[in-house]
Amino acid sequence: MQRLARQWQRRGTRIGFVPTMGYLHAGHLSLVHAARKRVGNSGKAVVSIYVNPTQFAPTEDLSRYPRDLKRDLQLCRETGVDVVFVPSDEEMYPGKAAGRYSTYVVEETLARQMEGASRPTHFRGVTTVVAKLFNIVRPDVAVFGAKDWQQAAIIKRMVTDLNFPLKVVVAPTVREADGVARSSRNKYLVGPLRPQAIVLSRSIAAARKLVAASARPIPAARLKAAVAKIVDAAPDARLDYVEFFEPETLRPQKQARPGSHMALAVFVGKTRLIDNGSL
Ligand code: PAJ
Repeated sequence: MQRLARQWQRRGTRIGFVPTMGYLHAGHLSLVHAARKRVGNSGKAVVSIYVNPTQFAPTEDLSRYPRDLKRDLQLCRETGVDVVFVPSDEEMYPGKAAGRYSTYVVEETLARQMEGASRPTHFRGVTTVVAKLFNIVRPDVAVFGAKDWQQAAIIKRMVTDLNFPLKVVVAPTVREADGVARSSRNKYLVGPLRPQAIVLSRSIAAARKLVAASARPIPAARLKAAVAKIVDAAPDARLDYVEFFEPETLRPQKQARPGSHMALAVFVGKTRLIDNGSL
């Protein structure tokens, strides 16, 4: 992959890159379209598919994370992807089992809150694997989804702080007809659980409405209570966190207003879902 990327670079061919963990859906494919738009038809669109073990805690769903490489490759073909990079664990973390992998990339500010508070080792795994993938694929443009708002902010910070010579593009969240954000983990939502996933987008819509209807900023605590009520109304849903913050810096806000950003994580059954949006 690295040799190929260097060849392309020498010829002046632009590279657009979409890192994924596979089990592709319309959200991932929208990122491919955004990448294609950025590099043009003469450029190359690269997708990586790698379920990255370092971003899963031992208690999380690494071993049962959904996989369907054959289907993923077909979708990539249909979407005009030029190269799909599918590395093995041994290629990405050589000798990890033997204790011979020891270098990590850590973002120390934005990664502490929200997802980072609930999943303390998660973002270290994300920044490490994405830095490695950037060095392998050598993209001019890398596209991430707004669905993982905090992840995108951390990647942007890493790219700036470590001088990666590429542009990060953040593409909008793709949703199902009922408003539920597309996610590979939606596969876990069987039977009565799937309809309950709507509490996330419903909470964002409710907070947006409250903020829009108020002449003054609304205390975050009041909005949190309103969200907790919506989530608690679904029998199998449990709120992990909800936060209100400044969209670019992720700085928490005690008062929310139009333009504030909101993010939340909710367990629906055993499945942890996240969503976010602008108020
Ligand atoms: P994964 O969850 O597979 O997501 C890959 C990319 O797709 C991320 O940038 C994510 O934000 C985006 N995405 C997921 N659902 C989306 C939706 N409904 N609409 C728009 N974009 C969506 O995020 C990861 O993998 C990993 O952490 C990774 C960055 C690949 C590092 O391992």
